[in-house]
Amino acid sequence: MRPKLPAKEPGTPNGRIFRMSCTVVLGSQWGDEGKGKIVDSFAGQFDIVARYQGAHNAGHTVWIGGEKTVLHLIPSGILRQRYCVLGNGMVISPLAFNLELAMLAKKGIPTRETVAVSNRAHLIAPWHARLEEARATKIGTTGRGVGPAYADKADRIGIRAGDILQPDFGKIVNASLRETNRELMERGHGTVLSNIADQFMDEAENMAPFVCDTGELLRSALRKNCELLAESAQGTMLDIDHGTYPFVTSSNTTAGGACTGLGISTFSISHVVGICKAYVTRVGGGKLPTEMEETAGDKVVEAGQEFGASTGRRRRPGWLDLFQLKYAVEINGIQTLVMTKADVLGGLFKTIPLCAGYRYGGKLLDEYPSKHSVLEQVEPVYTEHAGWPEFGDCREYKDLPQAFRNYVRKVEDYLQVQVKVVSTGPGREQTIVRRDAHVAGLTWMDDLDLNRESAA
Ligand code: GDP
Ligand code: IMO
Ligand code: MG
Repeated sequence: MRPKLPAKEPGTPNGRIFRMSCTVVLGSQWGDEGKGKIVDSFAGQFDIVARYQGAHNAGHTVWIGGEKTVLHLIPSGILRQRYCVLGNGMVISPLAFNLELAMLAKKGIPTRETVAVSNRAHLIAPWHARLEEARATKIGTTGRGVGPAYADKADRIGIRAGDILQPDFGKIVNASLRETNRELMERGHGTVLSNIADQFMDEAENMAPFVCDTGELLRSALRKNCELLAESAQGTMLDIDHGTYPFVTSSNTTAGGACTGLGISTFSISHVVGICKAYVTRVGGGKLPTEMEETAGDKVVEAGQEFGASTGRRRRPGWLDLFQLKYAVEINGIQTLVMTKADVLGGLFKTIPLCAGYRYGGKLLDEYPSKHSVLEQVEPVYTEHAGWPEFGDCREYKDLPQAFRNYVRKVEDYLQVQVKVVSTGPGREQTIVRRDAHVAGLTWMDDLDLNRESAA
């Protein structure tokens, strides 16, 4: 099945293979920056929203009119009835996918005509979580089998969504199960029974109507001038190549992942929007250089409800890290930032430290360290910033506290990137687009209509 695309006029040839109309919206820190909320806010301006990597390790929260929805796999654009694509860069648990469809159906949100799954995406089988447990990777993963599924992909022994449609699907699944059981036995763990494989195949067969060549679908949509929003999961510092390895996830969360994870040309990317919290959080293991001491951290966790949307684990808060953000801006080519959760810090602190660099071995570092052992020893260099009062119900940037606007100015000066949007709460309507900040080419942001609902 492939969703019906909005009929748009073909673009005029401009010497490029495809018209540049894909905006990448990604996490610029360690995940949970508010991607779900922001993608939902932006989605009305786009025809298609596509996730390019990750799995149900992600938890993207959207609040609409006091009702909470947490999406793990399907892009947050589904809540505005956009065409939603789960790209080839993802690893998908059929069980998690079916549960998500059922959750959306309960809310009256149809998916059959609007969701497509790449035939090149890999599947997470129940035994991938068993392998993860047996391999005991000590980095505090979500335990969803994400790493082992990507490892099978790299090992060329993975199960792809397209395989569901093949007559030898059972053979492919059984080969994966046999390989897993061999490893589990070697590691002294109990094996996975064949009825688990049968259940997995049943779940996978439910996915079949959604599976198609989404790369072809997206390229054809771009040719027709459709506007595409590429949604990331996790954050830049969890990228398998550029993050704080080995305390990272197993996919490319950064902007380049949008091309490889969706099957679109690099020329298609017109903009990259980075989402950052006004502080940082990290869940799971790994160094967080600006981690707050306990009292401050507890305040932020309570005020910001910093608990994982997927696992419920407490997130570890830290002060905003401009040295880290600069790295994220450069790797991703971030042209504008959306700042979320600054309301959380309102009224909590007299002064707010801002990290402007890392000292290591007595010297300021020029580059973000690639070695975790170095990151463990860096000393953040802070500048103090005045705290701000609670935001109240501000709807205009000029009405936000002066101290906060000065904070934003410091961030912009350091990064040389504008903060075009400020989120002041979890709700859709708590999104302020700054009229005083102009980002080249992002005119749709100036016209952002948070009430736009229906498909084009
Ligand atoms: P994601 O994984 O990046 O989509 O983020 P999560 O949904 O895991 O976590 C972000 C949390 O912060 C969610 O509970 C959101 O509802 C909430 N949130 C998003 N933006 C804001 C904001 O500006 N202020 C406050 N107070 N909460 C926000
Ligand atoms: P969203 O999309 C925050 C973290 C895990 C762990 C590491 C590896 O909601 O921002 P994995 O299960 O992926 O192998 O775990 O990555 N992690 C996240 N942290 N937000 C997420 O997603 C995350 N997805 C994975 O906690 O440290
Ligand atoms: Mg999350």
